[in-house]
Amino acid sequence: MKIVKKSAFKPEKHDCVVIPMFKGTNGADFWREFPELEFPARRKKMKGEIGEALACHSLERQRLYLLVGAGRPGSLPDARRLACRVMALLRENRVATALAYFTAPGPYPASYLDTLADYLHLNNYSFDRYKKKKSKFVERIQLVFKQRGAQGGGELRKRAVVLEEVQRVRDLVNEIPATVTPDAMAEAFAASARQHGLKLATWRRKELEKNGMNGLLAVGASSCCEPALLTLRYAPQGARRTVALVGKGITFDAGGLNLKPGNSMEEMKSDMAGAAVVLGVLNAAARLALPVQVTGLAALAENLPGRRAYKPGDVITYANGKTVEIANTDAEGRLVLADALIMAARGKPDMIIELSTLTGAIVTALGDSYAGLFCRSKKLSAALLQAAEASGELLWEMPLPAEYRESIVSKVADLKNANYQGASSIKAGLFLNEFTGKVPFAHIDIAGTAFLGKPNFCLAHEGATGFGVRLLVEFLKNLR
Ligand code: BES
Ligand code: MN
Ligand code: ZN
Repeated sequence: MKIVKKSAFKPEKHDCVVIPMFKGTNGADFWREFPELEFPARRKKMKGEIGEALACHSLERQRLYLLVGAGRPGSLPDARRLACRVMALLRENRVATALAYFTAPGPYPASYLDTLADYLHLNNYSFDRYKKKKSKFVERIQLVFKQRGAQGGGELRKRAVVLEEVQRVRDLVNEIPATVTPDAMAEAFAASARQHGLKLATWRRKELEKNGMNGLLAVGASSCCEPALLTLRYAPQGARRTVALVGKGITFDAGGLNLKPGNSMEEMKSDMAGAAVVLGVLNAAARLALPVQVTGLAALAENLPGRRAYKPGDVITYANGKTVEIANTDAEGRLVLADALIMAARGKPDMIIELSTLTGAIVTALGDSYAGLFCRSKKLSAALLQAAEASGELLWEMPLPAEYRESIVSKVADLKNANYQGASSIKAGLFLNEFTGKVPFAHIDIAGTAFLGKPNFCLAHEGATGFGVRLLVEFLKNLR
């Protein structure tokens, strides 16, 4: 879909005209320009609240008019919900090209336009690769602001790059686990490296053994596809800051010998979302030529039961000398991430940001609209929280209290990977924190936000969300 900004209101070439109606704005302006809408809008007592909508077909002009409640003028959270609603209406009505006409004077913050573009794009998506009946998408939306105000029409092209990467990540996470194996992920990383001239190091069984990457080897032991540790680097000239991004890439999480029960396995093709997001951010950073060095690490394995499977009671020795007792083979994410975090920290970056669909408990705590942020660096967490507000990929800060450390200590090894008895998201964060040395570290638990069982208030499609790509691109853009 193409989104463009124009200054003149010329509805002729469009199937549909969308008119956002802001709260507290004077209807009289509308009615002068769109007299046909006055009567039905008054009868519906429209006030401009989010959720209100009026569809009206003009026979005379052969065009659909949509009057849509737009909430508070200039509010980004309202812009997200407005865009979601507009896109649902356009798709319901099988509209191909639309013009959205903002009559209210604003002021609109600079990011209002980006936010609209983001959520229009995000809601013009379905995963229908395996369906005979394909969905219809909106092809083009033109945004017109009556009073000049919302800046940055040129920014829309840059935004389209980010949104293309978000879409690629969503497709990759929605794709089936028969296709998306560690081999396929390695191939996807290799394709990006070729396309954008990035440096890629691919470690498979042989290199993992040589380098003591024993978490990946244990978790991946029973799969017919070897585990992998990928390191993809974007290193522009003159970059002053270096960031390492680490992603959990369990391409399917059956739980291992501690097999997942009942329905809990159904969505576990999405357990590689962290690694997919890392790939998307690297692509976006390269395509936007961001002035930061970014190293993306993906820890890839399939967690399956089988003859060679690792077992509860096993002890893994890590490359940094720490030992971990396996209490539960379903707590596999932290085991593969430990390897990747050791490698990331060895590169001495300015910071490490790690994303993982790590714990079911974070879904219980925060649901599907906030990811858990665990970070002991005030500066890093503040910057991430700011990027979250700006992008709409929301974070909620959780503690990493030293007082809880004793519950991750094992009787037979230095640490254990599970049986923590309460606060399991926090203790999983404490576990990861053991492998990052002195580098400022943020762990983002995206178990609730990466993949939706059903639509939420601003995403109308279930399945993969690409959560983290827009957040981290925003973070990298603002990095000083
Ligand atoms: N991949 C899961 C976490 C998860 C749960 C992601 C639900 C998305 C939705 C993770 O590997 C896992 O199985 N975690 C267990 C750990 C437990 C066995 C200590 C959990 O949180 O239940
Ligand atoms: Mn698991
Ligand atoms: Zn998992």
